[in-house]
Amino acid sequence: MAHQTHIADLFLEHDGIMSFERYMREALYHPRYGYYASNISSVGKRGDFSTSATISTMLGKAIGQWALKQRTEVLGLGFGKRWNVIEIGAGDGSLARSFVDGLGTFQRRFVNYHIVDVSEPLRRKQQEKLGRRAQWHETMEEALTACEGEAIIFSNELIDAFPATIVRWNSASGTWQELYLRDQGVQGFSEEYRPLSVENEAAGSSVFGSWDHPEIPLKDGQRCEILFSYRKWLQPWLSKWQRGTMLTIDYGGSFPELYRKRPNGTLRGYFQGVRLEGDEVFDRFGHQDLTVDVNFTDVCQWSTAEGLETVQERSQREFLLETLPQLEDFRMQQQDSALEFLLSTYGAGNAFRVLEQRTKSS
Ligand SMILES: C[S@@+](CC[C@H](N)C(=O)[O-])C[C@H]1O[C@@H](n2cnc3c(N)ncnc32)[C@H](O)[C@@H]1O
Repeated sequence: MAHQTHIADLFLEHDGIMSFERYMREALYHPRYGYYASNISSVGKRGDFSTSATISTMLGKAIGQWALKQRTEVLGLGFGKRWNVIEIGAGDGSLARSFVDGLGTFQRRFVNYHIVDVSEPLRRKQQEKLGRRAQWHETMEEALTACEGEAIIFSNELIDAFPATIVRWNSASGTWQELYLRDQGVQGFSEEYRPLSVENEAAGSSVFGSWDHPEIPLKDGQRCEILFSYRKWLQPWLSKWQRGTMLTIDYGGSFPELYRKRPNGTLRGYFQGVRLEGDEVFDRFGHQDLTVDVNFTDVCQWSTAEGLETVQERSQREFLLETLPQLEDFRMQQQDSALEFLLSTYGAGNAFRVLEQRTKSS
């Protein structure tokens, strides 16, 4: 009840109307009522969410092997030297655990494993799972200071959790409009579209420019999401990262393919593992996850503008098979359904993209 009162009061303060981005921020990150901040109860098959990391150890092992290679090639450090890894958004700690275990007893002694996570309940789970094998930080700036600016960085399913600005194409006016929610009391929320705020109009100019594909005219009413919040979060810490490589794994794709046959965009909710669409995404404020697919065209453009180089973007399947070539044999011999799912061209193998970027000095 307190959750509902909080959101109702917030709408009242804003004359009954709020941008969807602000709503999503409150629903996921409000320090008291937000889903990540306080309401996640469990992770895993029957928990609030499961990820490639919670169902199989293979992704963590592959990232570990990839990171070892980056340590030598990019950080220029050989065997027996200490090196730093930062995982952003570590969930229940499963990915970290399989990363560290997969390094083997000798290599694991030399890695300083840092975690940055905003969720207090999830940090507790990570600490239970990892004990003294990792160090925790509140922000990326703090983690990078601890690493003196040199680190291999990775995340899995982080960006899809950033609050999204939802926009809709209006072909009559030739403009993008932003989604707002109006509080209708017991009837829930109604959707309203308004002109972009001055701030979003300015921030969006480069984004909309790159979305302009003369050969694929935008259809009236097409809804898309923009992760301005991710861009804002990225800017202050990228300047502190002096050397290293970053792996960003998430579901999504490039523009415009991402929105093919998806006129309503990609927003959905999850409650105890069940996917929710339409009006249901606004139910259970603060008790359910909200997420969108990641537009990798935007992500690459923003990080390039901040000085990163894109090394490559590939599917999760390609990343796993190229990093752990023995997986193909293992797969033939074992009936491992989780691994099949991770590699499947119709499932996570293709839906998840793996973006590799590095600092220019590397
Ligand atoms: C969907 S979970 C993915 C967990 C894990 N990477 C995995 O593969 O199982 C998203 C994670 O990102 C964290 N997170 C969300 N926003 C964050 C932010 N701005 N900074 C750091 N962590 C964040 C959440 O607390 C959670 O641990």
